[in-house]
Amino acid sequence: MSFNLQLSETHEMIRETARQFAKDEVAPTSIERDKSGEFPTDIVKKMGELGFLGMMVSPEWGGSGLDALSYVLAMEEISAVDAAVGVVMSVNNSLVCWGLETFANDEQKEKWLRPLATGVVHGAFCLSEPEAGSDATSQHTTAEKVDGGWVLNGTKNWITNGTTASTYLVMAQTNREMRHKGITCFIIDRNTPGFEPGLKEDKLGIRSSDTCSIGLTNVFVPDDQILGGVGMGFKIAMESLNGGRIGIAAQALGIAKGSFDAALHYSTQRKAFGKPIADLQAIQMKLADMSTRLEAARLLTYRAAYMKDQHQNYIKAAAQAKLYASKTAVHNALEAIQVHGGYGYVREYLVERYLRDAKITEIYEGTSEIQHIVIARELQKEL
Ligand code: CAA
Repeated sequence: MSFNLQLSETHEMIRETARQFAKDEVAPTSIERDKSGEFPTDIVKKMGELGFLGMMVSPEWGGSGLDALSYVLAMEEISAVDAAVGVVMSVNNSLVCWGLETFANDEQKEKWLRPLATGVVHGAFCLSEPEAGSDATSQHTTAEKVDGGWVLNGTKNWITNGTTASTYLVMAQTNREMRHKGITCFIIDRNTPGFEPGLKEDKLGIRSSDTCSIGLTNVFVPDDQILGGVGMGFKIAMESLNGGRIGIAAQALGIAKGSFDAALHYSTQRKAFGKPIADLQAIQMKLADMSTRLEAARLLTYRAAYMKDQHQNYIKAAAQAKLYASKTAVHNALEAIQVHGGYGYVREYLVERYLRDAKITEIYEGTSEIQHIVIARELQKEL
């Protein structure tokens, strides 16, 4: 695998656009939304207008037609300011639009993908269940064949964008004996009778993104809302998550960068023992270590995106990027608090939010423990 880190002019322009957008549109309300938990409705609308919700979707279907590296650059900048906004964008791009563009037929793309890619609406991805998190093949939600379609029953859990989405990709068991090969992906409109998003979870971090459970009670879904064919659901979920892990790695990278930038800035302003604390060796050690980890996480994440763009097998690279970038996000957020001392422990200074936001990146779209399994299995395949 050769890896060329050269960013094009387009990449630089996208990074700058995302940076400005984050500064002008996201930052002013981020502290308030963290406190209130209010969903960033206006910001998501503007992201749609800028093409950030369907970044990798072909213009033929209303997307921006950009590569995965562009997506990572934008995710990093937006998440450096507010990771709650980052995850709305990540789920829509990686877990919803990608699956639809890759597996849907043209009628489905016109009906479901176009509004998602243009940001008219946003979507959610429903794999996890109360008893099927890491063990994703153990789906309990069932879909029974009836005339003209399927009837779904069950509960989905931890659904990002769950209360505000319009379109949901829902995995359900259509044939229990066939284990993961009996799982099917259904495209469901939120207004379908029996489809009931629950209350928004009161989370530790990424508080203004909306996460909820979803109840499905006798939900009728017509045959033409099956994505990719009966029994294709687990494949769609796993392949979407491979790309999703690059998105979450980029979100983690943003948090790690935001934490580092805050620590560096504060250390040059704050004086102790007669000089800026940035001149004290104890703080220098921390800053040097944070920046080194940040660069390593960035290289892993850009490399995974690059490999995806080059149509190489990026399963291991994506898992490695997410594993390391999420660990770096938690590390850098903790160290940023330490550099700030008591000020790091209060809401006014932002860095405590970075820590609360960082933790989820080690949990969703496959825990760090799952990333180890994915990496180890890929290593064996390489033998
Ligand atoms: N990419 C492509 N295919 C994969 C894959 C991957 N990363 N991982 C597994 N598969 C395929 C396997 O090749 C196999 O297919 P075949 O039978 O055709 O060969 C099939 O999936 C089943 O794999 P296993 O036999 O290895 O299944 P397993 O049960 O032993 O383990 C697992 C599977 C890797 C642990 C999987 O269950 C997993 O990834 N779990 C984590 C799930 C996850 O990430 N959930 C996050 C939910 S989304 C979210 O966070 C919500 C949100 O809104 C942000």
